[in-house]
Amino acid sequence: MLKGKTIILGVSGSIAAYKAVDIARRLIRDGATVKVVMTSSATKFVTPLTFRTLTKQSVATELFTENSKSKICHISLSDEADIILVAPATANIINKTANGVADDLLSTTLLAADVPIIFAPAMNSKMYLSEATQKSLNRLKAFGFRVIEPTLGELACGEEGVGRLAEVDTIVEVIKFETAKEKDLKNRSVVVTAGGTREEIDPVRYISNRSSGKMGYAIANELTKRGAKTTLISAPTYLPTPQNVNFISVSNASDMQREMLQYFDKCDAVIMAAAVADFTPAEPVSKKIKRNKTGNFSLKLKSNPDIIKELGRIKKKQILIGFAAETEDLIENARKKIEEKNLDLIIANDVSKPEIGFEEDFNEVTILNKKGIVKKVPRMTKREIARIIVDKLVDVLD
Ligand code: C5P
Repeated sequence: MLKGKTIILGVSGSIAAYKAVDIARRLIRDGATVKVVMTSSATKFVTPLTFRTLTKQSVATELFTENSKSKICHISLSDEADIILVAPATANIINKTANGVADDLLSTTLLAADVPIIFAPAMNSKMYLSEATQKSLNRLKAFGFRVIEPTLGELACGEEGVGRLAEVDTIVEVIKFETAKEKDLKNRSVVVTAGGTREEIDPVRYISNRSSGKMGYAIANELTKRGAKTTLISAPTYLPTPQNVNFISVSNASDMQREMLQYFDKCDAVIMAAAVADFTPAEPVSKKIKRNKTGNFSLKLKSNPDIIKELGRIKKKQILIGFAAETEDLIENARKKIEEKNLDLIIANDVSKPEIGFEEDFNEVTILNKKGIVKKVPRMTKREIARIIVDKLVDVLD
């Protein structure tokens, strides 16, 4: 089942490192080529020789070597891999990766990788539950990495708690599942927009909206995972930039439209998740507006370009997917928009429900095409919803 797959097994310094020997053995038994990268503290628990004997591959531990191979090791390692598994993943490697720290071979390999990365944490429960580690794990998930949660039980330090490495069976199953997913968007080019545009009133003020960008970023991450050449045109957000996307930062709707038109001709699909402001100040001013004597101030607005509507007018073969964030008559309004804007699919979400939609990690959507409802997606994480949206894109592209 893993025949032809190359798996990098990153082993970091936890007592659970001995279980990585079993993981390697199981992956090899299923046909994989396993290349082990060990941190220096991992070598204190298990010797590189154990893995070398088992995997019949050299074990990498050093960032700087005199090895004369043509490619630099931390780059070539991830180039060769189908997937990277870090098991056991210590608090140290998790917190480092979440912050882009690259100070040894494993962390550098992770930063340079453009293949799926899976972490299987193992550590003391206090370290696992600490705010720093939890935040880092959430960041890793937001980057699109998978985390195989540790289990409850007796820990090496004698305490009971959460932090035991997941069962070897579970880890191997996840690897099989992840590697089985085809790169079904290979050779496809997709442009995604995200975030709420900022329409400048003066040098210090702007009009914007509550979009966090989470949905669009999750879609961009999913697209790259599935092999698409992804361009993410993003209005300002507080999210980490996804890895391996062509990232274009914009501020207002006109900038977003200009950038979009640069990429539109050559792309296969556009997913417009950005909350583009419908209006913009008619006359932005270059100096900060001061209070006036009356104490009142009125702002004249003009219409912004409807970016996706314009794309709907000029499109050739491109698939267009839009969003409809509504507070009433969700399906009816979505149906109207798909026609008006000449879209292939529309993702309708009810933003009047407080626990889903804007700023939240969860969403609940209905996907429609021109004929009607394609799928109702119940409340789930934006990452999972992104996967379903990309599945639907694949269906339409085929
Ligand atoms: O009309 P409404 O703003 O609800 O349409 C939502 C869809 O249209 C979203 O996909 C959004 O990104 C896109 N849109 C746009 N340009 C605008 C306004 C919305 O592309 N000016």
